[in-house]
Amino acid sequence: MSAEDPQVILRIANVGKIFSAGMGLFAGSMKSVVALSNISLDVRSGTTLAIVGESGSGKTTLGRCIVGLYEPTEGDIFYCGKRLSKASFRDFEIRRAIQMVFQDPAASLNPRQRVGSIIAEPLLVHKIVDPSSVKMRVEELLDSVGLGAKAASKFPHEFSGGQKQRIAIARALSLEPKVLVCDEAVSALDVSVQAQIVNLLKDIQKERGLTYLFISHDMAVVRHIADEVAVMRGGELVEKGSTDELFRSPKTAYTRALLAAVPRGISMHRQAA
Ligand SMILES: Nc1ncnc2c1ncn2[C@@H]1O[C@H](COP(=O)(O)OP(=O)(O)O)[C@@H](O)[C@H]1O
Ligand SMILES: [Mg+2]
Repeated sequence: MSAEDPQVILRIANVGKIFSAGMGLFAGSMKSVVALSNISLDVRSGTTLAIVGESGSGKTTLGRCIVGLYEPTEGDIFYCGKRLSKASFRDFEIRRAIQMVFQDPAASLNPRQRVGSIIAEPLLVHKIVDPSSVKMRVEELLDSVGLGAKAASKFPHEFSGGQKQRIAIARALSLEPKVLVCDEAVSALDVSVQAQIVNLLKDIQKERGLTYLFISHDMAVVRHIADEVAVMRGGELVEKGSTDELFRSPKTAYTRALLAAVPRGISMHRQAA
């Protein structure tokens, strides 16, 4: 893939991230952590790239670098050919374009805010829609994640885990992003609910042409959603390939071990509603 490939919406080029002593919990110990080293990945528009690997392999750090929560210490990340930096994230068009959905929906939603205002907030803060049409826009967003308009007047605690994650997805979609980084977004949910949320994400992708970076340690879920898979270990990229290829013939023992950990009998297939 050439640097000019217009299909590449996100380019991660030789990215490294070192957490220095003085920033972490063990500030006194002068130990720095290499969380990412020399990661290069291209993500094509409208596709899903899964990032997999055992705990501590650097998946979250990479996701956070992409949405601008962390700055890489080495290398560059490009969105539509534009280099991402602290300065570029001040550009609202770039900031809105890349959104993140987190693992724990309960923690990412303000318990004291009604769902309607949680979703309306980004729309109002960034003046995306006219105040007079905010209510309608919120209802459209709730509808697009399979929740009725009535959800707007309720509080997050009135919803199940899966429904909370739907609310978090609606909020992320409110800014009409192009790229969604989902960091273990279904990992905390029951298996049957996982399938529903994964199917919702797939439907939304089809409708909106979204690009997903799907961070997960669960290969069964990854197989169902990803076009390509990047395998990470200890901050390094171990291998990358199309989902079919990687599941059929993993190149490394590490990937084989990740695949072997997939519980049998788990089906991510769509169930009749
Ligand atoms: N804010 C931080 N400060 C210091 N070290 C961190 C920080 N975030 C992550 N790390 C370290 O970076 C490595 C990768 O972590 P992480 O990206 O969370 O992995 P994963 O999401 O794959 O479990 C781990 O060794 C972790 O302890
Ligand atoms: Mg993580």
